[in-house]
Amino acid sequence: MGKKIRIGSLISGGGTNLQAIIDACEDGRIDGEMAFVASDQAGVKGLERARNHNIASFVVEYGPFIQAYRQDPANFRLPEDFDFSEICAKQHLFPADDPEDRIRSFLCTRAAAESRLLSEIKAHAPVDLLVLAGFMRNLTPYFIDRFNTDPGNPRIMNIHPAILPSFPGVDGYGDTFRYGCKVGGCTVHFIDYGEDSGPIIGQRAFPILETDTLDDVKRKGLEQEWQLYPECIQNFARGLLKTVNMTHRLDDGRVYQRTVVKIANPA
Ligand code: GAR
Repeated sequence: MGKKIRIGSLISGGGTNLQAIIDACEDGRIDGEMAFVASDQAGVKGLERARNHNIASFVVEYGPFIQAYRQDPANFRLPEDFDFSEICAKQHLFPADDPEDRIRSFLCTRAAAESRLLSEIKAHAPVDLLVLAGFMRNLTPYFIDRFNTDPGNPRIMNIHPAILPSFPGVDGYGDTFRYGCKVGGCTVHFIDYGEDSGPIIGQRAFPILETDTLDDVKRKGLEQEWQLYPECIQNFARGLLKTVNMTHRLDDGRVYQRTVVKIANPA
């Protein structure tokens, strides 16, 4: 076994992926230990899972920040190092022509909550990897840049319940099912400044039968997630993941770029 990495996790709910990661850390499938679990919702089952394994946990609710902004936007307390123009220019969560008020209220409230998250996370330093395990909030560039201090080495992972780039958003399995797809799947990716849009680390697929219900699709999907996420985390822990920007030139002269996560051969 190699050196153990310290992993932090953000959750919003039941935490079955969190459980799969904790179990994999405990039985040696991940060379890592869970340093903390943070939730944006109090009282969720995932927090109980953390307690059952003596893992430190805390809650940062976003609701009070959102309410405070709604009540009195002019006096809303922003983090001292928050620069709206900078974060607005970087984010890919909203189209540039969306009303500025909407973008401003989103970024200000999220950055205030994220600042609280960052200071709580500091208490558990060092943290090598942050895993989003059913965390239903988009992180803004304010948080991402303060956690990913080396831009060439992303270290925030997410699991999404669809084969990205299809069906980003809050209901991947529901969207897959309602579209009538014959195949569903899940994706683990590093996060970037967009919604479910960062470089892909791993994907799993499963067949959807005509007789399957949405619950069947969710069950099949979660079973894949519980295997895929620990595998991707272990590849990170072993230092096997490398994010590279590749340029492709087509025969007609057009050039396009893509970011690929390469997985080195295990030693
Ligand atoms: C999982 O299906 C995960 O892929 C999804 O939420 C579920 C959480 O389940 N995540 C997202 O939709 C993120 N946008 P869990 O709490 O039992 O791990």
